[in-house]
Amino acid sequence: MKNLLSMEHLSNEEILHILDRARDFENGGKPQLSRSYNIANLFFEPSTRTKTSFEMAERRVGCTVIPFDASFSSAVKGETMYDTVKTLEMIGMDAVVIRAKEDEYYNELLEGINVAVINAGDGAGQHPSQSLLDLYTIQKEFGTFEGLNVTIVGDVSHSRVAKSNATALTRLGANVRFLCPKEWAGEFEAFHSWDEVLEDSDVVMLLRIQHERHSVSKSFSKESYHEQYGLTVERENRMKPDAIIMHPAPVNRDVEITDELVECERSRIFEQVRNGVFARMAIVETILKERP
Ligand code: CP
Repeated sequence: MKNLLSMEHLSNEEILHILDRARDFENGGKPQLSRSYNIANLFFEPSTRTKTSFEMAERRVGCTVIPFDASFSSAVKGETMYDTVKTLEMIGMDAVVIRAKEDEYYNELLEGINVAVINAGDGAGQHPSQSLLDLYTIQKEFGTFEGLNVTIVGDVSHSRVAKSNATALTRLGANVRFLCPKEWAGEFEAFHSWDEVLEDSDVVMLLRIQHERHSVSKSFSKESYHEQYGLTVERENRMKPDAIIMHPAPVNRDVEITDELVECERSRIFEQVRNGVFARMAIVETILKERP
């Protein structure tokens, strides 16, 4: 695996290898890199989890993390993504982790760039490292993906998490359904009532409303969204006994999910964050092992 750009590019074998390595790392396994590699994290959009988690993972597998602050970089002066990445390659970077607001920004890096590129989120496109940590969380819980009912709820059309997970989970044998307002279904067929999906879901995966990606305001009031599509205590009580709640976070409490459910027994929301470090250690190691 030279780069990690989209879940659509990964085979099931590559996915399962990363999940196996994540488990090894969680169980105390040692990284298998033959030298220290230089890596930089280029975040042109805000992030708490992904940026910090990648940096932790990079350090744990033995990388040297070179600081890069997008808001004080020459991107602000109009430098292209290609020129920024090529510059970092010439300075000695082996890999870059990039988050940017443009869908498929990475296409301009496919020719002429010799550093590995790890996509940490492209616009409303893909978020493969989030997907891999979500898969790891589900695998830890159920041991398999085959036959699981996974319901993805919320702002589907604007969500890179929804698209990444739908691709991978379906290929791994899960039954993925969407629950959302008609306006947010995008290319997907969706349900519009909890009653149709709640009681047989093994995983309820909530999404943040992505106000920053709405070109015109199609937003509901917080109260009416919560009432129609939020996970309330009454709905949580109707879930299967072993079903789990997931959310990539950041969470809008009392919008996608009632405040008191964020850390309830069946919530894996903060466990996902913890799993993210192991999944990203596996991603960084897998990619860097292919470099001399
Ligand atoms: N889940 C996720 O991508 O969170 P951040 O935006 O904080 O990185």
